[in-house]
Amino acid sequence: MNANGSERGNWTKLGFIFAATGSAIGLGNIWKFPYITYENNGGAFVLVYLICIAAIGLPIMIAEMILGRKSQRNAVGAFKAVGGGKWKIVGGLGVITGFVLLSYYSVVAGWTLEYFIKSVTGAFDGMDESEVGKLFGDFLKNPVKQISWHAVFMGLTIIIVAGGIVKGIQRITKILMPVLFIIMAILLIQSVFSEGFGQALTFLFRPNFSELTLGSVLEAVGHSFFTLSLGMGAIITYGSYMTDKDSIPKSAIIVCGLDTFVALMACMIIYPIIFTFKISPESMTKSAGILFSTLPIHFLNMPGGFLFGPLFFILVAFAALTSTISLLEVVVAYFIDELGWRRVQATIGLGIVIFVLGIFSALSNGAVPALSSFNLIGKSSTAGFFNTLDYLVSNWLLPVGGFFIAVFVGWRLQVAVKDEEYYKGEKTFLNYRAWNFLIKFVAPVAVAIIIIAVIFGREF
Ligand code: PFF
Repeated sequence: MNANGSERGNWTKLGFIFAATGSAIGLGNIWKFPYITYENNGGAFVLVYLICIAAIGLPIMIAEMILGRKSQRNAVGAFKAVGGGKWKIVGGLGVITGFVLLSYYSVVAGWTLEYFIKSVTGAFDGMDESEVGKLFGDFLKNPVKQISWHAVFMGLTIIIVAGGIVKGIQRITKILMPVLFIIMAILLIQSVFSEGFGQALTFLFRPNFSELTLGSVLEAVGHSFFTLSLGMGAIITYGSYMTDKDSIPKSAIIVCGLDTFVALMACMIIYPIIFTFKISPESMTKSAGILFSTLPIHFLNMPGGFLFGPLFFILVAFAALTSTISLLEVVVAYFIDELGWRRVQATIGLGIVIFVLGIFSALSNGAVPALSSFNLIGKSSTAGFFNTLDYLVSNWLLPVGGFFIAVFVGWRLQVAVKDEEYYKGEKTFLNYRAWNFLIKFVAPVAVAIIIIAVIFGREF
């Protein structure tokens, strides 16, 4: 029951896996991971990233699920329900992070819809790389388009979340996730037969440790939070609708595994194109560049390209949508559980406020000079309102939130509670003692190191 007396609802068994995997797989996998891996020279970075997922991400994901299922509450209420006292501030930080992250994430998600329409209607036909690049630049400067697509994306997110856990989120993710995997498989088959596939595999999986810097390690740790939706209570919130029939460690292993799989597959789809068409490294490293200003034209140059372009952009849009709904759910669940709001009103009201905040990000990629040059942090990578928010969320809010969640579950939560939640449902190969060691020592120490590194000004 919530504060307003209504039932909270529960996932079916596969429902939780679909929803949590949907939250994890998003722009982080298909847009961010391929370009940061490219920037960090593949191989060794990928290996470090995989270690971060297993040694930091997985244990924290299990910790968030334990907090959620035990308490059956939102991010703030979860800490209160298990006797966390002041630790509820960590949940509060998570709700604020969800609010901010969704506001700018929905802007980029909106771009994928514009590009889906563009690729379906043949807008790139006959263009060369520089023309497609210019098209993207012009699009970013267009305030009406930026705000309209952001509105469409927030609108879709609101409609789904307003439907609730079972009739909204679960119903949609059960459809979108399988479709996402099917599209991915089609794109992958096509890429396996392309010329640059072998080179892409070598780049991804042959480690060259001489190219690994401390900055790369820090980036891998930070990205593992973002990609797994950790550190801000999204998995606490989704975990709160889980039943006792599910095994927490097993579910977490599946979600982490699928998320990693999709990130690697995204590279295998994108890199062969880069190697086949010898795309300049500069266009790769300009964050947004690769997906929107370089790829569209190269999809067209491939056999069957008229089909792969639209498929690719709809894939990214679906991935983003299953993430935005989890972000909105974190905020909405707090207002429903703690403040007694009704779901539909909370979803629409908060969704509109988040949309309005997002307008500042939408206009900060060239449309409004004052917002584009806004730079609170003062680094070149944080120029613009959008980049400032992303820097604060990815480098500060998520790792700090994750650190406190690890410390709380590792050191403060009663052993009996952890033990009981860990062993409900089926057993898995990761036993309780191994997880307990990771959550008590490995995860907090590793995250503390990145926080200290950020404080001492490492650029990452
Ligand atoms: N995991 C998402 C991605 O990789 O795109 C981003 C995200 C979603 C982060 C939900 C945090 C969250 F709560």
